[in-house]
Amino acid sequence: METEAAHGVWPTNRKDETPGVADTNAGENAKTPETAEKPPSRILSGIQPTGRLHIGNYFGMMEPAIRLQDEGDAFYFIADYHALTTVHDPATMRENVAGVATDFLSAGLDPSKATFFRQSDVPEVAELSWFLSTVCPIGFLERAHSFKDKTARGIDATHGLFAYPVLMAADILVYDSNIVPVGKDQKQHLEITRDLAGKFNDRFGDGVFTIPEPRIAETGSTASVPGLDGQKMSKSYNNTLELFEEEKKTRKKIMKIVTDATAMEDPKPTEESTLLDYYRLFASDDEVAEMIASFKAGGTGYGHYKQQVFEKLWERFAPMRERREKLLADPDYVEDILRTGAKRARRLAQATLARVREATGIAGHPISLR
Ligand code: TYM
Repeated sequence: METEAAHGVWPTNRKDETPGVADTNAGENAKTPETAEKPPSRILSGIQPTGRLHIGNYFGMMEPAIRLQDEGDAFYFIADYHALTTVHDPATMRENVAGVATDFLSAGLDPSKATFFRQSDVPEVAELSWFLSTVCPIGFLERAHSFKDKTARGIDATHGLFAYPVLMAADILVYDSNIVPVGKDQKQHLEITRDLAGKFNDRFGDGVFTIPEPRIAETGSTASVPGLDGQKMSKSYNNTLELFEEEKKTRKKIMKIVTDATAMEDPKPTEESTLLDYYRLFASDDEVAEMIASFKAGGTGYGHYKQQVFEKLWERFAPMRERREKLLADPDYVEDILRTGAKRARRLAQATLARVREATGIAGHPISLR
């Protein structure tokens, strides 16, 4: 296996490689004595391997998560258990997981700073999900928007889909997470997580779980990154602009961004303009102000502005495309990163499960078969 330095993908090495140092934070966030040095915040987020990553994922979660990897002990994972509610072909699942791993690393996730892993490599999370389900009122799940949205779109109303927020709470609580960077659509899931942690602590003792805080991304003038049709960008609405698509296709998609029918010579409305919303994601404040002034002045067609959006986007993702070329050439290296991350994550998860088992009176330890 080649080293990170040999790849030249990431410049730095992990700061906390002393065995066990960072891991001693397990469970301590909830009960660190006032006098002790505060452990770094644990930052956690996940992404489902349901298809290719798009700029909604990037600006809603990945970019903030990548920034936060310098500010705390970051844990990022690929939520394959969750994806099983909608992805039913094993080859597609494997392909999607590999794709998301490569693309997240290409986008700037640095495995020398953040712990990056596959959700299912830490099966303790499924066990914790059961513990949490015993304090979860059915009403919480019945009110969950994502279940209603997904079933309205024809996705099977399985127990897995219904209980999705409980597994998500387990993802967060099993690592004693403090901060969870997510897009706006995940806000309700974070509220459920906080409520379940509170209910569990009330029943079994304060300090079993750390109560996490959501960190909802700002995405310009809109709550979520809009899709090409102006609705929320989502794989399931077929309106996405992918992070890593070939140039011609990206340009073609950008040309499809919805606009109104204002004639070229006329001034263009600047409110609720999906085109301007995109430009805000990629351009500086001055450049956005210039485009707004040009909209107001009239005399320029939407096609010209779309070209400007394309150029900014293409330039912004250029270094990531370069990194991706290197990573695509070495899938074993990407797999190795996920496995290394899972080992670290699993140690923490096992410590949490031991605490939860103890608090609930459910056996001391599972029998070891070794
Ligand atoms: P997922 O895979 O749907 O999306 C991953 C992240 O991308 C954000 N996102 C957006 N943000 C802004 N604008 C958009 N148009 C847009 N589309 C997607 C999502 O808000 C999300 O942050 N349930 C999660 C995965 C998950 C998870 C977790 C997240 C499982 N366990 C624990 C945090 C913590 C999901 O479906 O994300």
